[in-house]
Amino acid sequence: MAIEEQLQRLEEGLEKIRAGGGDKRIAKQHEQGKKTARERIEALLDPGSFNEIDAFVTHRCVNFGMDKTEAPGEGVVTGYGTIDGRPVAVFAQDFTVLGGSLGEMHAKKICKIQDLALKVGMPIIGINDSGGARIQEGVDALSGYGQIFYRNTMASGVIPQIAVIMGPCAGGAVYSPALMDFIFMVKDTSEMFITGPQVIKAVTGEEVSGQQLGGALAHNQTSGVAHFAADNEEHCLQLIRILLSYLPGNNMDDPPVIDSGDDPGRAEEGLLYIIPDNSNKAFNMLDVINLVMDRGTVFEVQALYAPNIITALARLNGRVVGIIANQPAVMAGCLDINCSDKAARFIRFCDAFNIPIVNFVDVPGFLPGTNQEYGGIIRHGAKMLHAYSEATVPKLTVIVRKAYGGAYLAMCSRDLGADQVFAWPGAEIAVMGPDGAANIIFRKEIETAADPRATRAEKIAEYRRLFANPYVAAQRGYIDAVIDPRQTRPQLVQALELLSTKRENRPAKKHGNIPL
Ligand code: HXC
Repeated sequence: MAIEEQLQRLEEGLEKIRAGGGDKRIAKQHEQGKKTARERIEALLDPGSFNEIDAFVTHRCVNFGMDKTEAPGEGVVTGYGTIDGRPVAVFAQDFTVLGGSLGEMHAKKICKIQDLALKVGMPIIGINDSGGARIQEGVDALSGYGQIFYRNTMASGVIPQIAVIMGPCAGGAVYSPALMDFIFMVKDTSEMFITGPQVIKAVTGEEVSGQQLGGALAHNQTSGVAHFAADNEEHCLQLIRILLSYLPGNNMDDPPVIDSGDDPGRAEEGLLYIIPDNSNKAFNMLDVINLVMDRGTVFEVQALYAPNIITALARLNGRVVGIIANQPAVMAGCLDINCSDKAARFIRFCDAFNIPIVNFVDVPGFLPGTNQEYGGIIRHGAKMLHAYSEATVPKLTVIVRKAYGGAYLAMCSRDLGADQVFAWPGAEIAVMGPDGAANIIFRKEIETAADPRATRAEKIAEYRRLFANPYVAAQRGYIDAVIDPRQTRPQLVQALELLSTKRENRPAKKHGNIPL
């Protein structure tokens, strides 16, 4: 065959594959506000950087007429390219081809790109839009999922794994995303569930829509399964590019340092006026974080879930940090089950990928209640203790106001291995708040006093004067410095610089046993 003919055959073959499930199905996809797999990859990666692999792979199923069914690209587009010039692996399921359903060879394509990402040490982004296991392929399809889950687990903590839900994601298909580091969803068009609305209705009689059950808001606000809820697909792909700008390619790399043009020595006057005089009044911790970090770099993760704790990525003098902060504007910043899970997972992500952790503390304690106790707050809260203690990245803590009891310890205290602990002069560090403490230790005196109310107020004031301050902790060295709030940014910048060469080892073990 002449070379011209060979090239023509190649071009025709590729053209057919690029056409996916054909114009009609592509039009349906667009009508639903969804891009095709190829359009998504194009919008995600740097222009012209995509290299497709395995375009010619086909299924070999002969059941139920499949021997006569063509599936261009096997219903998934796989390959690699760059984002901001840095390599990434990507796969995108093509809903226009057999509903993006996953059969044996579809799974093999995904596994190959997972293997390549792990070998090379590049992040992988999986765009899910699929009817789940390809029914005609039976157990071969199930096996395909199993192989993907296995690789997700092997890659965990080695390369960042990002799952994007841009359509239905049902049954076991949700578990590959669940094994990855971050899940992005799109409002109105993505859905994730183990059993869909019809099955639920048949089994339990409950009536629920797909969006109510497993839409972007259900998983970002209620279940905590997802991390980002985008307004549309374009917005979603943009958010992924932003997230990646904070992450290293793999666990042997450091995150990229980018000069954000902000003065590292900036003393911030505004920090003096954020905390109300009355220590029971709320304020927005994001105001503190935004003033301390490089301007415009704070990127919240899981912002809609358990908002009593803030998890965010940001830059401090150009270096990436992970932020964990109590949010006194929600539930007074108490620690509860959901926020413990959220924080612990984020701490472990940061530690795995060499991202130093900066903690901002204003915590009155753990949330009391039977819901919390029966729900296992002991087990869930222990995740934070475990995650902070095992983390070897630089850990910096700033106590801006309250730090009481077990919650003081759980917010990366010196005893859990914080490398530097700073406290603002108004910080209150003690076993419990003055009201509760006075009621317990002065109970008899209060009860027998001529004027119990006045005595109680006196005792509270006495306790506050003696213990609700940072100096007792400073006298014992539990905090390293009581600082002028205005100096928070320069102090953290210097500490981070110093700790950039930190090395800390843990006893050799197969792995720890974090309370799950
Ligand atoms: C084979 C499938 C398919 C599947 C969809 N299609 N799902 N083919 N296996 N699982 C095909 C349809 O036949 C159709 O083909 C095309 O994809 C588009 O599907 P529609 O139904 O027309 O689209 P839509 O109305 O948008 O509905 C999408 C859907 C629905 C909600 C996803 O297709 C659906 O409910 N599919 C089945 C979902 C499911 O139960 N999957 C199995 C989950 S169990 P044509 O030729 O008409 O265009 C599972 C186990 C995994 O995944 C366990 C792993 C451990």
